[in-house]
Amino acid sequence: MHSFQELIAQFSQHFEKERFPKEPSRLYNAASHILGISGKRIRPVLCLMGNELFDDVRADAFEVGSAVELFHNFTLLHDDIMDKAPIRRGKPTVHTVYGDPAAILAGDVMLIYVYERLNKVDSHYKQKIISVFNKAAIEVCEGQQLDMDFEGMAPEDVKYDDYVHMIGLKTSVLLAASMQLGAIIGGAGEGNQQHIYSFGKNIGIAFQIQDDYLDAFGDPEKFGKQQGGDILVNKKTFLLLKALELCNPEQLAELKMLMETSPADKVERVLHLFRACKVDEWAEKEKERFQQLAFQSLDNIAVLSNRKAPLMELADYLLNRQQ
Ligand code: IPE
Ligand code: IPE
Ligand code: MG
Ligand code: MG
Ligand code: MG
Repeated sequence: MHSFQELIAQFSQHFEKERFPKEPSRLYNAASHILGISGKRIRPVLCLMGNELFDDVRADAFEVGSAVELFHNFTLLHDDIMDKAPIRRGKPTVHTVYGDPAAILAGDVMLIYVYERLNKVDSHYKQKIISVFNKAAIEVCEGQQLDMDFEGMAPEDVKYDDYVHMIGLKTSVLLAASMQLGAIIGGAGEGNQQHIYSFGKNIGIAFQIQDDYLDAFGDPEKFGKQQGGDILVNKKTFLLLKALELCNPEQLAELKMLMETSPADKVERVLHLFRACKVDEWAEKEKERFQQLAFQSLDNIAVLSNRKAPLMELADYLLNRQQ
């Protein structure tokens, strides 16, 4: 068994071999730009860990992990255009450097490379791998659309359950599918695949709660994104939805005014209101709730409990990360 840190190191070595053609340079430089700034590599590591829970790590898990990491990076290129984000992983976003067309196309071409990778896996389970991957990829698009729809809606029209449903799609299903894909390669049966998927889904929800929290309260140096980016575009994050529920009429009026008029000091003032309503404290409890749900699913997996320890460590890291 390996720790998640060891698997990240192994995967990074493997993934650095990804090479694109030279021309057209704008297209491939844009793709290399995002891949060159390494993220946390969480999804491929979940894939490797899903495999190792049931058997030794196989070469196919590295291929599928690479596919998932490429897909994730493709979604980030398009997401940063949708979210008007200037900074990602501490560097200017691809569309701000190369322009929207190259960023869109670099995302598109990376998606094709995803299928090049998936096409390499053992034919014994290739069909199952592609169908599990495709289901998650479609759901990510659905979640992203809901996220965009919510931006334009009045805050009172978006319920907390709608938010959990949306982040379940845009973020969690890919973490969940990464685990299931690894489990398939490890030879897990259908029941265990479902339990590991459910573990990943609940960890993914807590992971996005932490992402929303850091977007508002994180240290931009460590988090690598613009502070308050979600506030600027009126994202219906749990922080906003819960603040609306907890604040008094005066605070509610101020929050709505800030969202409608976007003054220069919007981020500062919204953060002040979030703190006054204690939504930052509430985030901790929500993360723990989903972590417990995840651990229940982990309990249900029919393998020796010592094999599960690295996954519990990874969950702790993901939910308490500052980056
Ligand atoms: C960012 O994902 C997008 C979300 C779903 C929150 P990560 O936080 O895994 O991004 P990187 O790959 O480590 O930069
Ligand atoms: C991103 O959610 C989900 C996908 C990219 C599919 P966010 O918009 O919160 O991700 P960040 O914060 O930009 O990384
Ligand atoms: Mg987004
Ligand atoms: Mg974004
Ligand atoms: Mg975010």
